Amino acid sequence: MYSLSALEDLLNQAFGKLRFDGQPKELYEPIEYTLGLGGKRIRPLLVLTGCDLFGGDPEKAIPVAIGMELFHNFTLLHDDIMDQAPLRRGKETVYKKWNTPSAILSGDTLFALAYESILRGGSPVYPDLLQLFTRTAREVCEGQQMDLNFERMQQIAIPDYLEMIRLKTAVLLACSLKAGALLAGAPSEEARKIYAAGENLGMAFQLQDDLLDTYGEEKKFGKEIGGDIISGKKTYLYLSAMLGSGEEDAAALTGYYRDAVTDPADKIRKVKEIFDRAGVKESTLNLISDYFNDALNLVRQTAVPEPGKMNLLELATRLIRRDV
Ligand code: IPE
Ligand code: IPE
Ligand code: MG
Ligand code: MG
Ligand code: MG
Repeated sequence: MYSLSALEDLLNQAFGKLRFDGQPKELYEPIEYTLGLGGKRIRPLLVLTGCDLFGGDPEKAIPVAIGMELFHNFTLLHDDIMDQAPLRRGKETVYKKWNTPSAILSGDTLFALAYESILRGGSPVYPDLLQLFTRTAREVCEGQQMDLNFERMQQIAIPDYLEMIRLKTAVLLACSLKAGALLAGAPSEEARKIYAAGENLGMAFQLQDDLLDTYGEEKKFGKEIGGDIISGKKTYLYLSAMLGSGEEDAAALTGYYRDAVTDPADKIRKVKEIFDRAGVKESTLNLISDYFNDALNLVRQTAVPEPGKMNLLELATRLIRRDV
């Protein structure tokens, strides 16, 4: 059994050795740039944790772990175009620094590189693992399309928003954890439970991301604060403000999300005032806790040794008590 920091050391070594210096350089430079900025590398850590949890050798899971991170970075390159985001990991986004066609094509390449890395692992569990990963990739796209659809829709029901974040974010965290478990030869019932735990954790993770988008600090978070408000994302913060506000605030909020933005800073300030009055920070934190607890209960039900459960608990806590 490895400690979480030992697993992180393994990953740091592996990522340190990765090079993206192929030709044409215009295709690979944005990849080198994005991967070079690091990020939290949560998904690969989930792969190694999942593998270690069920007694597998985490070193053997590294190609799959890297594959999950490459796939994640592909989604970020395209997501920043979709969300018109200026900042990522504290630096200019790829489509801004280069251009949109570059971000599209380098993103596509990352998707292919993800498969190459995953296939490099060569394991008997491959049909299952590849099926899981491919389905996950499709689900992320479904979630991303729903996210875009919701920008234009006037009314979103909370269960629909939750299904959208399950697809765009939670399934990849769940897939990462389960991929590690499969590589370790976990029985299918155990793999199913660990997937469900990862899914709940992923829900908490995206809700925390939504919270930080409004209440975080740009220097730490590395993304533009208020970006979701400007692009009219009807996150849980917005939906719970609509439910928790009086008529006047609810009408004002509807207007802010419907009308074209003329003064972004002013809009962010006014929306935040309504969010504060409705107590959305507290209600979002409560929902994060609910998902976190559901995840932990599922972890408790798995037949893995206690130290492994502690590792996962530590990782889960880190995911939701973060400001980056
Ligand atoms: C950002 O993911 C996209 C979401 C699903 C919220 P991360 O917060 O894991 O981003 P990095 O990889 O650490 O930059
Ligand atoms: C993340 O959604 C989902 C994916 C990237 C697939 P966001 O749009 O909230 O992610 P950030 O905040 O830009 O990282
Ligand atoms: Mg997005
Ligand atoms: Mg985004
Ligand atoms: Mg976000």
